Amino acid sequence: MNFFALLLAALSLAETDCNKVRSYLYPDAAVCTDEMKCSEEYACVVSDSCDAYGCVAATDCPADTNYTVFNQQGSDENDSGHETNGLDGYFCDPNGDGLICTFDDEGNFYIDAIINNKRPWVNGPDDDDEKRKVTLISKTKHDQQVPETAFKQFNNSTCVGETIENGSKVRFNINVNDPNCTDEFDFSHIISPINGLTYIVDFYIGFDDYWYINEFGDERILRGGVSNQFQCRLKASDYGWVDPNPQSNRAYNYTESEAQIPFTFTAYNDRQFSDEYDGSIIELDDEFEYNGLYIEAEHEATGEFQSHIMHLRECTSHNYPKVGEDTDGNPIYSNSSTTFAFVNDGCIDNNFVTYSQKSTRTEWTSNIKTTVKDQFNLRVNAASGANGAMIKYSCEMVLCPLDVFEDSVVGSPCHLSDQCPNRYDNLFSRRRRRTSLANDNNVLIKTIHQEGAFFVRGNEAGNGAKSGNDAFAIGLAIACLLFFAL
Ligand SMILES: *[C@@H]1O[C@H](CO)[C@@H](O)[C@H](O)[C@H]1NC(C)=O
Ligand SMILES: *[C@@H]1O[C@H](CO)[C@@H](O)[C@H](O)[C@H]1NC(C)=O
Ligand SMILES: *[C@@H]1O[C@H](CO)[C@@H](O)[C@H](O)[C@H]1NC(C)=O
Ligand SMILES: *[C@@H]1O[C@H](CO)[C@@H](O)[C@H](O)[C@H]1NC(C)=O
Ligand SMILES: *[C@@H]1O[C@H](CO)[C@@H](O)[C@H](O)[C@H]1NC(C)=O
Ligand SMILES: *[C@@H]1O[C@H](CO)[C@@H](O)[C@H](O)[C@H]1NC(C)=O
Ligand SMILES: *[C@@H]1O[C@H](CO)[C@@H](O)[C@H](O)[C@H]1NC(C)=O
Ligand SMILES: *[C@@H]1O[C@H](CO)[C@@H](O)[C@H](O)[C@H]1NC(C)=O
Repeated sequence: MNFFALLLAALSLAETDCNKVRSYLYPDAAVCTDEMKCSEEYACVVSDSCDAYGCVAATDCPADTNYTVFNQQGSDENDSGHETNGLDGYFCDPNGDGLICTFDDEGNFYIDAIINNKRPWVNGPDDDDEKRKVTLISKTKHDQQVPETAFKQFNNSTCVGETIENGSKVRFNINVNDPNCTDEFDFSHIISPINGLTYIVDFYIGFDDYWYINEFGDERILRGGVSNQFQCRLKASDYGWVDPNPQSNRAYNYTESEAQIPFTFTAYNDRQFSDEYDGSIIELDDEFEYNGLYIEAEHEATGEFQSHIMHLRECTSHNYPKVGEDTDGNPIYSNSSTTFAFVNDGCIDNNFVTYSQKSTRTEWTSNIKTTVKDQFNLRVNAASGANGAMIKYSCEMVLCPLDVFEDSVVGSPCHLSDQCPNRYDNLFSRRRRRTSLANDNNVLIKTIHQEGAFFVRGNEAGNGAKSGNDAFAIGLAIACLLFFAL
């Protein structure tokens, strides 16, 4: 459990209150009395019933819903000052009527956001709409507001929406290349152990305080304005790895080859990669541990791909706890999983206890270079008394020219994460520097997807007192309670 404290220090102590999400999606449903919370970047999945809820990674949001940042727009009048509605966690949005962040047919990023707290000012001045012009501004501009003064950042923006529903709501359907909205989006990214490479776009929509200078020359607020914070979070691999920032530049043009490349993706029981795993159920020891499966991805290309290296771009594991047995005694696994993106841009984050790799590109048991193959180890640390689990793992692998790694950027198919910046160094030979790419920015690559699964069974001695909370853990020891029955 030490590990959990470690990871929490690295991430923020974020948590989403699924009861709030539920009241937002189902305003007429009864209020649930039990606490429902999801930690970190896990998104709430709720229904109108209080019986169960889920906490899922972006990839695991149910079909017809989108992983979305939750922001409640306050509706209380605040005449005395500025009202700010911040971000409140993550949910799988079934409606998309608050915020959609995606790409149009030309591959340009756009947002479609609706705000519903543009309140008419009863008996207000005739130029109400002038004074309360609703605009979109970047988080950077929003944060330039001078504290203890009237809020004035919105009026300056030319990025305006269209009023809908008789002026009670304002819709912003804005393309990132819209000249009226230049510089109104802040772009950034994170590499998250739950969702992998995630592009982030930050902005605010709102209107300024209505203020005046009184007879003593002091600034007075007649009526407070509103700031609604928005954030788009795009799990890169769910959106074809396209960077929403139009200014981003990849340094190389990557072309995907149509060629069929022979390759293997094999699980072994031993560090020598000799004893192939046969798909049987593995017994956990008394400590509910299993030292692992050794996975190897290898390509056997000839011709133009022969000297390309095997690069693990993103690997994800899905842990489905065992929830029971059928009448023949066969295990039944939950259909919702705990998900971790454990390999990102060639690196396994050292904070993971159950996923590991060699710190340089060598075989597990020798110093032989692993140019056309890469390897990793998947272990299991289960909570005591765990029943068992099915663990699925999948990788996106790219055959890349080695030289590209010297100056590729985040989001490129062939990029080594700064979590292990020196891991590929031993593959470079000292003499040869940038020969093949000297005059050519076009890079031919081959992307391969492959997955596998293994099965573990808990020590039956711990059986008997099983409850829904006896969750099975892999990866981060605790974060793993996923579908709670209440
Ligand atoms: C209302 O305005 C006051 C004064 O600026 C501020 O302290 C308070 O946080 C605001 N309330 C909300 C809900 O934003
Ligand atoms: C989900 O996102 C897609 C675009 O990625 C959009 O077309 C769709 O309307 C969204 N659906 C919901 C429910 O938000
Ligand atoms: C708001 O901006 C407009 C121009 O866009 C300007 O004419 C007006 O004076 C501004 N109002 C305030 C209160 O700053
Ligand atoms: C409004 O925009 C003008 C020109 O872009 C700039 O000089 C001014 O400082 C801005 N005002 C505020 C309050 O941001
Ligand atoms: C808009 O306002 C008109 C006149 O006040 C009213 O008849 C109509 O029902 C309203 N429409 C909506 C969508 O609220
Ligand atoms: C930019 O703003 C102007 C003035 O509000 C408007 O006429 C124009 O259509 C806008 N351009 C786009 C691309 O929305
Ligand atoms: C990539 O190709 C496009 C068109 O083929 C070209 O305009 C662009 O400059 C190239 N980029 C690089 C980095 O070579
Ligand atoms: C799992 O799948 C079964 C059958 O498809 C379904 O009845 C059940 O509701 C699902 N459970 C969850 C937690 O999604």
